[in-house]
Amino acid sequence: MSSELLRLDKVNKRFGGHVVLADVSFAVAPGEILGLVGPNGSGKTTTINVISGLYRADSGRILFDGHPVHHVPMHRLAHLGINRTFQVPKTFRDMTVRQNIEVAAHFGHAGATVDVEAILRDIDLHKQAGKIAGSLTVNQQKLLDLGRALATGPKLLLVDEIGAGLNPAELGGIADLLRKLAQRGIALIVVEHLMAFLGSITSRVIVLGAGRMLFEGSLDAASRQPEVVAAFFGGEV
Ligand SMILES: Nc1ncnc2c1ncn2[C@@H]1O[C@H](COP(=O)(O)OP(=O)(O)O)[C@@H](O)[C@H]1O
Ligand SMILES: [Mg+2]
Repeated sequence: MSSELLRLDKVNKRFGGHVVLADVSFAVAPGEILGLVGPNGSGKTTTINVISGLYRADSGRILFDGHPVHHVPMHRLAHLGINRTFQVPKTFRDMTVRQNIEVAAHFGHAGATVDVEAILRDIDLHKQAGKIAGSLTVNQQKLLDLGRALATGPKLLLVDEIGAGLNPAELGGIADLLRKLAQRGIALIVVEHLMAFLGSITSRVIVLGAGRMLFEGSLDAASRQPEVVAAFFGGEV
């Protein structure tokens, strides 16, 4: 098995004249959790949007399993094994929890056999399987969004600020689940503002500031870098 599942090589993205990603380059291995941090507007969600095929990079390369995928549309990437969650969970609010997972399974990995009940247990919503998704709590909506991504059989899962607005017990449950997914060999890129939560699932982070990579290394070391601290706290430091 290759030690590298995903590689970004000098990825650039602009909106109008505004540079949002500038020469972003990094790699992720199967079963690895990579944290992606940085202040609001630094390009974290855009990085996920470009990897998942929602947006196309202006230049640079993205390799998945050794193959270039930067021109592959989003639905094909889902078949290849790349899927993501959203900052605001994207579930079908009028369908039941189980139906949400079943629909997602249709869009997934070609030939993957999806065990809907196992996913419902993974996301701890098996008891709510018959409930209408729109009636779930914020935490449950986030778990269902994660389950929807899992139902496509991802090799790479991109998780965008799943911790925001959750209480410590809910955060602990999500951290346990993300660690379990990594142990199964799924690679994860986790965008997060909550450093304690991130520290409980990984030690390796990339710090973005205004679309540039400011730092790549351990979370501890990142918090000691003046450039990184300045990017987070601006003029207040
Ligand atoms: N679809 C878009 N059109 C125009 N500008 C965008 C779009 N998406 C993101 N941006 C801009 O790109 C920058 C980075 O945004 P984003 O990746 O969402 O940041 P983050 O997730 O780190 O908060 C911001 O300045 C944002 O306004
Ligand atoms: Mg974002």
